[in-house]
Amino acid sequence: MQVFKTNKNLQASLLKYKIKGKTIGFVPTLGALHEGHASLVERSKRLSDITVCSIFVNPAQFNDPKDLIKYPRTLKEDKNLLEELKTDILFIPSKDEIYPADLQLEIDVDFGSLFTVMEGEHRPGHFDGVVKVVKRLLDIVCPDHLYMGQKDFQQFSLIQHMIDELEIPTQLIVCKIKREPNGLAMSSRNERLTKENREKAAIIYKTLKAVKRKAKDKDFEQLKEYAMDKLSIENFKPEYFEIVDGRTLQSVNDYEDSDYIVACAAVWAGDIRLIDNIILKKEQ
Ligand code: PAJ
Repeated sequence: MQVFKTNKNLQASLLKYKIKGKTIGFVPTLGALHEGHASLVERSKRLSDITVCSIFVNPAQFNDPKDLIKYPRTLKEDKNLLEELKTDILFIPSKDEIYPADLQLEIDVDFGSLFTVMEGEHRPGHFDGVVKVVKRLLDIVCPDHLYMGQKDFQQFSLIQHMIDELEIPTQLIVCKIKREPNGLAMSSRNERLTKENREKAAIIYKTLKAVKRKAKDKDFEQLKEYAMDKLSIENFKPEYFEIVDGRTLQSVNDYEDSDYIVACAAVWAGDIRLIDNIILKKEQ
């Protein structure tokens, strides 16, 4: 695996592959890699000729400064995992490479309500930072394929919107959610859960699956109430449970309202915030 810290060295290496007509797959991450990230790298290894993974703990997207400080940094383990997966290139830029002082990064896209609902409402400023860093990374890597997880449904929806609006020549490939044996969606934050809460967090996926089973027959207001109630167990506090259109992320009232429907939840497990989602309907 080649490791680059500067845009210049990374781009020089990528140019050699691009000249040979090789396709570039790109997996951006914050590090603290787990099997969810690994599944993205594996998908890229299958579909793209050259796989680039980046690790950059992007300060711009942490709305809570304490979260940024506490974010796990496990570069040695991350490198080992990426080596095992036979990742071609690891990019670990410094803050100055991503945000040089003279950079004017204006993203002229109207995200409308994609920006303000769910995570946007509860984590103000978070998506400004995500969009900014992903745009910057896409400008540097210029990949053919970008691999992102369904785990962060709103995040990939925003990025797809940006790609469409700016006509960026990169195809977004969304990978399904990797889960722990009890159903909890894998996340770097899971390590910070107490043992008890990690077990109890199985309730999130259980509730999402129950909602999916009931979706055809129940009014969505009732279903949301049902889910909020189910998720309100000891030490757990649901922040939101929304049932939305999979493209606009606007609320949907019942099963016939849209051909693409997803249920999204954010839940506090003690002082750790977890998100998850399930597709209720997708007709294409
Ligand atoms: P991070 O949380 O490290 O996630 C990197 C990618 O891994 C994202 O596309 C995310 O959706 C995906 N991912 C996380 N958990 C997953 C799981 N259990 N199964 C499948 N995929 C999973 O998301 C970010 O970093 C950042 O916001 C980033 C896009 C890198 C911008 O800084």
